[in-house]
Amino acid sequence: MKSPVPDYLQEVLDGLVDDRSGAVADYIPDLANANPDVFGVAVTTVDGRTHSAGDDEVEFSIQSISKPFAYAAALTDRGFDAVLGTVGVEPSGEAFNELSLEGDSRRPKNPMINAGAIATHYLLSRSGASVTERVDRALEFFSELADRTLSIDESVCRSELETADRNLSIAHMLRNYGVIDSPAHDVVEGYTRQCSIKVTVRDLAVMGATLANAGVHPVTGRRVVATEVARQTLAVMTGCGMYDAAGHWLTTVGIPAKSGVAGGLLGSLPGQLGIGVVSPRLDVHGNSVRGVRMFQRMSADMGMHLM
Ligand code: DON
Repeated sequence: MKSPVPDYLQEVLDGLVDDRSGAVADYIPDLANANPDVFGVAVTTVDGRTHSAGDDEVEFSIQSISKPFAYAAALTDRGFDAVLGTVGVEPSGEAFNELSLEGDSRRPKNPMINAGAIATHYLLSRSGASVTERVDRALEFFSELADRTLSIDESVCRSELETADRNLSIAHMLRNYGVIDSPAHDVVEGYTRQCSIKVTVRDLAVMGATLANAGVHPVTGRRVVATEVARQTLAVMTGCGMYDAAGHWLTTVGIPAKSGVAGGLLGSLPGQLGIGVVSPRLDVHGNSVRGVRMFQRMSADMGMHLM
């Protein structure tokens, strides 16, 4: 029997397609050239079925949606003690590019804000890793989750590196406080390459479904991360994934999630499914306008709110 899910997804897309509010990110010059009308959605269930509608094959840079996956990789590579000693797990209640360090320890408050994500990227692979080793680790890990070989959008990466003063300042502060001990430029270069990895909504859905499935890939059947790592990552996404809109998101949608400035939005509902949406126009928090509305609608229609 034909699944009703693709028709449902198409209907939700059709209902939101005329909403042109928000604006594409332009602090990374290359992102300002993105087609603002792209709109796609995909859902992968924990038993490995993917349904999608709209622009489901369009690639876009993963941006901050890389952060929970890099966190899962760092926990896997370096263990909980090393990661928690470097980055906290508390919501910052501030914008994604604020420094947001904890008072005494000077740890970044969480791995979803830029300061925490730069420190998390620094932990990838092994102590003393090179830029290439860290980026290769991110690429290999994200590709395993997506179940295909991913690559970097070199143009977006170059464009962001040319205007990365704010992230460079954050990295210099982290180095000053002893949170990282590699050169600030190297860590920001690696982090920016990680953010420039290209994905589709179908990739995001299956990547999110792996976290929802306690770390076991729903299509390949391989265990990609330990159960505790998947749980820790989902917990941090729940508290911090939507930055200073995290509380509103938790009350209105109630699904662990992460947004990116290229317009991607990832959801991961424990034990059930992963969701990927893309629509590049963003709200003031840097979250996709139609992506947020799409999630609100799906959460309400399908009773997906965790609470
Ligand atoms: O660090 C940055 O500025 C970007 N590469 C990623 C930021 C991002 O996606 C924020 N999310 N909404």
